[in-house]
Amino acid sequence: MSQLAVRVEGLTKSFGSTRALDGVDLEIPTGTVLGLLGPNGAGKTTTVRVLTTLLRPDAGRAWVAGHDVVAEPQAVRRAIGLSGQYAAVDENLTGLENLYMVGRLYGLKRAAAKARARELLERFRLTEAAERPSKTYSGGMRRRLDLAGALVAAPSVVVLDEPTTGLDPRGRLDTWSMISELVADGATVLLTTQYLEEADQLADNIVVIDHGRAIASGTADELKAQIGGERLQVVVAQPEQVGYAHGVLAAVGVGEPVVDEHLRRVSVPVSGGTKALVEALRRFDGEGVELLDVALQRPTLDDVFLTLTGHPAEDAEQPVGTTGGAA
Ligand SMILES: Nc1ncnc2c1ncn2[C@@H]1O[C@H](COP(=O)(O)OP(=O)(O)OP(=O)(O)O)[C@@H](O)[C@H]1O
Ligand SMILES: [Mg+2]
Repeated sequence: MSQLAVRVEGLTKSFGSTRALDGVDLEIPTGTVLGLLGPNGAGKTTTVRVLTTLLRPDAGRAWVAGHDVVAEPQAVRRAIGLSGQYAAVDENLTGLENLYMVGRLYGLKRAAAKARARELLERFRLTEAAERPSKTYSGGMRRRLDLAGALVAAPSVVVLDEPTTGLDPRGRLDTWSMISELVADGATVLLTTQYLEEADQLADNIVVIDHGRAIASGTADELKAQIGGERLQVVVAQPEQVGYAHGVLAAVGVGEPVVDEHLRRVSVPVSGGTKALVEALRRFDGEGVELLDVALQRPTLDDVFLTLTGHPAEDAEQPVGTTGGAA
């Protein structure tokens, strides 16, 4: 059996009449990334707060690095690094001072704390801003400083609550490569996100959470297969070419093409999307068939939700009945 860095069994937590967690189970094998994927209000942050000992569950149990989060909070805190949903930096301190302070809190000697702070500032492209109060930082810089803070003590389990929300594309890519590096160095990562694409990029396993329950889990490919995966869609210029398009898409796809005669649009589920796309384009081009539009549609979080729950993700924040109800 592979070792588990995190184990969660039947966690429940209510705030008044809101059931934030309604029996969440999950496991993270050591050295892997788990993506906890869900819309606003799904229970991601509540799960994170329980795992990082900031919140007591009403029922259920959780272990981090072998330690029970309720019975052994100190040991859990030593093993874990958290970057919360909202960057927790001291605005009046400089970037260097922020990280130095975290190092000292974790018991590093002065010189070691300073060296570690400098190293992380360099890694997160903050060296130039190191001596400036962090209140002068942009949102993305603050986010990076907060991420750096989570890594000061070189934790074995890193928890990142929506690490890329609010970042620009460059910041997002930076964060993704930082997370990949962490894992290459042997860390276990729990990452929450609202983006299927992000979980797809980074996570070995994904748990989809809605109304405080895990409603699906698996690898990104397994989830996509479950919800139908990618679709290739073309719109042909001439009505009489619809039949030909149907033939091409049937050949490159993995299911029955769907035709909309009126819009001259044909679509089909594909696996290995770009390959199918290239092959289809080659065939259309070979026959001189003109396309008005061609698209490879990846499933979005909305598709996942619609398929798994029968309701769009936007509904998720509405109040839930105390019984929860079957999805
Ligand atoms: N301290 C609290 N008091 C009252 N209700 C709370 C509290 N914390 C969370 N909730 C409620 O619990 C539910 C789950 O919240 P949680 O913050 O875990 O969601 P989330 O998945 O992190 O959402 P988001 O993507 O918006 O961050 C929501 O309905 C939220 O309003
Ligand atoms: Mg949250």
